[in-house]
Parts: sequence; C-alpha cells; structure tokens
Amino acid sequence: MAVRQVITWGDPRLKNKNRDVEDWTPELDQLVADMFETTASQEGAGLAAPQVGINIRLAVVDVSSGADPAQKVVLINPEIIREEGEQIGEEGCLSIPGFTEVLKRPMKVWIKNRKPNGDWEELEAEELRARAFCHEIDHLHGRLFVEHLGPVKRNIIQRKYQKQRRD
Ligand code: NI
Repeated sequence: MAVRQVITWGDPRLKNKNRDVEDWTPELDQLVADMFETTASQEGAGLAAPQVGINIRLAVVDVSSGADPAQKVVLINPEIIREEGEQIGEEGCLSIPGFTEVLKRPMKVWIKNRKPNGDWEELEAEELRARAFCHEIDHLHGRLFVEHLGPVKRNIIQRKYQKQRRD
C-alpha cells in the first residue's frame, strides 16, 4: 500500500468527466488499498479517484480514518436513489486542505452501488457516513463541497485559499 498524492482545488482533473468502472482489475484493488491508506494518513473520511488524478467513478469512505476496518466502504459507480431528512455540520475535503465549512446534507441516504464482482447492492447510511457518501459522490460529478456555498462565501474561501497557497 502507498499513500498517493492528492490533487487540490484548481486542478482541472477534479472537474473532468469521470467514466464508469467496467472490468475490475488487480490495479483497481491496489488503487482502493492506496486510497484507504491515503485517507487514513490525512485523517480524512473518504477519497474519490479523481482526487488522485484518476477520472473514474470510484471512491472510498472510512469515517473512522483507518481506526476500524469494518467502517471501510468502496463506492463503485454509485448513485443516490433516495434521501431523507437533513443534517447541518462541518465539512472539509483533502483537496482543500485547512478549510472547513458548515453545510447542509441529507440525514439519511440510500445508494445503488456496484460491487467489484459486478453485482449491484443497495447501501444505507446516516449521519456522518451519509455526509461522506454525498461528498464523495459529488466528487464523481466533478463537484467540490464549496460549490454548495453561496457565491459570497465561496469567493471569500477561494481568496483565502489562494493566499494560503501563495504564502
Ligand atoms: Ni473531498
């Protein structure tokens, strides 16, 4: 396993179109292992393949940041099929290091997800894991969490972020 370099806000690969995962390969097993390792190394809750520069519809979620193997979820070509309620809480992203914002998300989501063997499954998540699912699925649509903010707030963050990168 290896920690991969995470690309950051402004890199065009975060906005590229991501293609569906088709055949599952040993390289994808390796990529998934590396993505979990990278998430844990930065104390994140998940990571999407485009964040390591690979434009496919694959993401990992681990709300324990590496502490509990039972928390690991691999999202492959995931789609939200239902959502319920709402939660308001702080959210951050490994591609926008050092910044968090308070964001509204559904309290509960149901997801249609492909398994590595090609079968489909339905996953249910609430609270922190539901937030992480929504955040990672956004990445697979080329969307960062700051795009949920109003334009004024987003501009302030963008300016602060660019200043921080220059310093
Ligand atoms: Ni993110």
